[in-house]
Amino acid sequence: MKISVCGKGGSGKSTVVALLANEARLRGYRVLVVDADESNSGLFRMLGFDYPPVPLMELVGGKNSLKQKMGQPSVLAENRIVLEDLPPQYLVQKDGLMLVSIGKILQSLEGCACPMGVLSREFLKKLALAEDDLAIVDMEAGVEHFGRGVETSIDSVLIVVEPPLESVNVGQKIHDLASGIGIRNVWAVLNKVPSGDIATRLKTELQERQIEVVGCIYFDADIFSSSIDGRMPVKGVAVQEIKEVLNRILAKAGLPAPK
Ligand SMILES: Nc1ncnc2c1ncn2[C@@H]1O[C@H](COP(=O)(O)OP(=O)(O)OP(=O)(O)O)[C@@H](O)[C@H]1O
Ligand SMILES: [Mg+2]
Repeated sequence: MKISVCGKGGSGKSTVVALLANEARLRGYRVLVVDADESNSGLFRMLGFDYPPVPLMELVGGKNSLKQKMGQPSVLAENRIVLEDLPPQYLVQKDGLMLVSIGKILQSLEGCACPMGVLSREFLKKLALAEDDLAIVDMEAGVEHFGRGVETSIDSVLIVVEPPLESVNVGQKIHDLASGIGIRNVWAVLNKVPSGDIATRLKTELQERQIEVVGCIYFDADIFSSSIDGRMPVKGVAVQEIKEVLNRILAKAGLPAPK
């Protein structure tokens, strides 16, 4: 199963990715996190790794080389990517959790992020997973990745929605774009919710827009404090709440129990 975690900037995409990935790993799933956010670089720490993987961008010769290949039918040599075949520097792994990174914008004036979009799209398309493997993509903020077709081979989209209405509006846009390209499973998860009353109001708002809500994560001081240290949130209510979110996702997507 390939699931893309999307939403407005700062809504909690990376946090939800880290929480989901850790919970799925604890249940025995083999979990691959794909860091497809070209701006932020701290996901490896949130996932408990000491260093990041070398970006896949380097595997194809760097950004300039990729730019030249962008008109070609494919930029990756393989037709099918099996995780075991990736050279180890591109895939960090620990305790059932794996991480790959597409690439980061490192310098000013280095040009747009389109090559990252091309590489993300092709990597996700060619990525061959076992039936009970879970790939969770930490997407860049907003909706531009849909314009680049990154989601074409994704089976599920999880939209992270926090209380401001603008986050709901971006969520709606993502929902419509994802449904429009035929993605079967498009859900929202509420995040940073301050009260039960706000949770109800947000759920109603989303349901009126035909967006299915698979869970609610309240504002959690433990999450906030672990983010200051840049580490994985391992305690607090959100760690409990994500269990229910994962239960619903697994049931709705029909992912089999890990072998
Ligand atoms: N449920 C929560 N309770 C408290 N703080 C939270 C919660 N979820 C996320 N945060 C905090 O909100 C901030 C933004 O979260 P995060 O980095 O996960 O968002 P993002 O959507 O990935 O951001 P970006 O768009 O920059 O990639 C972080 O400081 C994080 O700790
Ligand atoms: Mg992020």
